[in-house]
Amino acid sequence: MNKIHSVAIVGCGLMGTGLAEVCARAGFVTTAIRATAGDASVPRYKVLQSLERSVQKGKLDPDARDRAVSLLSFSADLEAAEHADLIIETAVESLSAKQALFARIEHVVGDDAILASNTSSLRLGAIAEKMKNPERMLGLHFFSPVQVMKLVEIGRTTLTAPWVIESAVRFCNKLGKSPIVLGDDPGYVVNRLLVPYILHAIETLECKVASPEDIDSAMKLGCGHPMGPLMLADLIGLDIVFAMARSLAQEHNDSRFHPPSLLRRLVLANQLGRKTMRGFYDYTGDQPVANPEVFAFDAPIAPSQVVS
Ligand code: 3HC
Repeated sequence: MNKIHSVAIVGCGLMGTGLAEVCARAGFVTTAIRATAGDASVPRYKVLQSLERSVQKGKLDPDARDRAVSLLSFSADLEAAEHADLIIETAVESLSAKQALFARIEHVVGDDAILASNTSSLRLGAIAEKMKNPERMLGLHFFSPVQVMKLVEIGRTTLTAPWVIESAVRFCNKLGKSPIVLGDDPGYVVNRLLVPYILHAIETLECKVASPEDIDSAMKLGCGHPMGPLMLADLIGLDIVFAMARSLAQEHNDSRFHPPSLLRRLVLANQLGRKTMRGFYDYTGDQPVANPEVFAFDAPIAPSQVVS
């Protein structure tokens, strides 16, 4: 049985940096490693800034912040994963890229290390296909913002060993998360349901049924969702939503996952949501406003123009 003390996170995007913060705060020795060559000071800055924000909000005491910082390190070199008990890959959603990355990871880590992918829409068995030891591989799927969302979907392939699942469940519990254990089905539960919902919201916008704000307000006020589907897509990242849709459409051979052309247009224009300050909304001002390039609504009377 693998007792998890140290974690390496490979991939330092929104998910990877959020996860590094959560692991260190839970007391794990944590190394965040860039999946591609580059400067590790950028993810470092992001995590330290997020910890600082929690201190300023009074949600984390400075001692706990210092303890978390002392457990954290950052690197652009995969060799830094050498002594980790658990490696969680949070790199780009591409099968070939993940397979190539895991081949390098297997080369670096010890024989007892557990290998996890945070894939949101790929088949785990396909990622594990070329591994030397696929029994130690599983899916650990976290949700944005990782610091807040409680669920972890644990995915197992036909080959994943029971001790790997047990260690993963204990690890998630230690993070303060609620894990559910699932089979190897691309999209698991959440993205199987969430992706078609977001894509339908985008089509609703394309059909000019309503403005982005009204679509989001409808789902918040009508269904009690904390966030509307278009703003949620911007939070996840439109490149990620697009990649998930394409992968799920292919995996399930199901047109409900087919990405609408407006989504593709925004991704090609590098308008990827919050991370680029523009997606369905523009985030450059004090408050997000609808991106004028995605919507020209010619309603005869907008409710905001009605004076009571
Ligand atoms: N880091 C740390 N804490 C954060 C945070 C972050 N990035 N973002 C929000 N929070 C905290 C805030 O500090 C606040 O904490 P407090 O209540 O203790 O003060 C709390 O979360 C609520 O935040 P806000 O008051 O700023 O704003 P909201 O009430 O609007 O909540 C939200 C923000 C938590 C993002 C909420 O809108 C929400 O739950 N949205 C839905 C998110 C969601 O569905 N995520 C899943 C996406 S799918 C996915 O990730 C899968 C992948 O495969 C794509």
